[in-house]
Amino acid sequence: MLKIVKRWFMAFFTLCFLASACRHDPIVQPVTENTCDSTNVSFKKSVMPILNKHCNSCHGSNVQTHGIILDNYAGVRIFALEGSLYGAIIQNGDYAPMPYSAAKLDVCSIALIHNWIREGIKDN
Ligand code: HEC
Repeated sequence: MLKIVKRWFMAFFTLCFLASACRHDPIVQPVTENTCDSTNVSFKKSVMPILNKHCNSCHGSNVQTHGIILDNYAGVRIFALEGSLYGAIIQNGDYAPMPYSAAKLDVCSIALIHNWIREGIKDN
């Protein structure tokens, strides 16, 4: 008898635990989906910091690999218009994949650069 009661208690607590785990699900959703606001992208506030962090050790004013300079608007605009900026970061085989021999940019960073280009390559 005691055994059956114990088993019911175990089942009850397991169910409670599972139910509470489900309720908290939204917290473990990927952060990028909720926190990545990729509309009205600002060149200065969003695009430039990504390029400075991931690209400009090789494409800045000091080191200009392949003559590519991505540390100012005029420089970035050239490669954004030409298509190689976006082509390089989505790594679909049309351009040399960037960042060079490093992990692909995160989904949010790619979305920000993509939308900044689509919204007209503004110096904003
Ligand atoms: C460690 C150095 C390094 C970093 C960091 C780097 N690049 Fe490059 N980049 C290169 C080299 C080397 C090439 C030439 C590769 C080739 O032609 O195979 C290149 C080429 C390019 C090209 C021309 C691609 C083509 O096929 O025409 C673009 C555009 C570019 N990089 C953009 C970027 C962007 C954007 C980032 C950051 C997300 C970045 N790079 C980060 C070294 C780097």
